[in-house]
Amino acid sequence: MKSHKIEIVLEVFNSISELPQDIQELMGKAQEARERAYAPYSRFKVGAALAMANGTVVTGNNQENAAFPSGLCAERVAIFSAGAQFPDQPITAMALTARSLSQELQSPTPPCGACRQAIAEYELKQKQPIAIYFMGEMGKIAKASSIKDLLPLVFDSSYLS
Ligand code: THU
Repeated sequence: MKSHKIEIVLEVFNSISELPQDIQELMGKAQEARERAYAPYSRFKVGAALAMANGTVVTGNNQENAAFPSGLCAERVAIFSAGAQFPDQPITAMALTARSLSQELQSPTPPCGACRQAIAEYELKQKQPIAIYFMGEMGKIAKASSIKDLLPLVFDSSYLS
């Protein structure tokens, strides 16, 4: 038996003011998008902002539904919108933030597993990494330089051929 160790690397920033200027602005756009979320059932609002290589920012937020599984997370709303509007533009960075109406989220809130899989599809498609910055409402911000650090052992198209 051999064991295989997987190391993931995250950088942690203590506050938004420690982020590079362009990412501070991107996080601001994610916060604005978060407040426009439609989350009457969970009362948990998530915002995403994607920086595209052409300078455009595409935002998304969670959209819920009375038939719960019919809703969609902020990350996928944003990344599918980017894919629909700018299919040939690489995504360089993604900023994510969450705010719960029932508790103050003080630690970085990572994307769910399904969103990680969706982000991985686009990172593999564009053949360049997407830096992912994620936070709660306040406090520290974590940065993954690539989705590979959030989703090791990804299932990708190579298994389909
Ligand atoms: N949610 C997101 O938008 N992104 C995630 O990565 C985790 C969860 C949304 C889905 C649902 O509307 C609410 O947060 C509670 O799960």
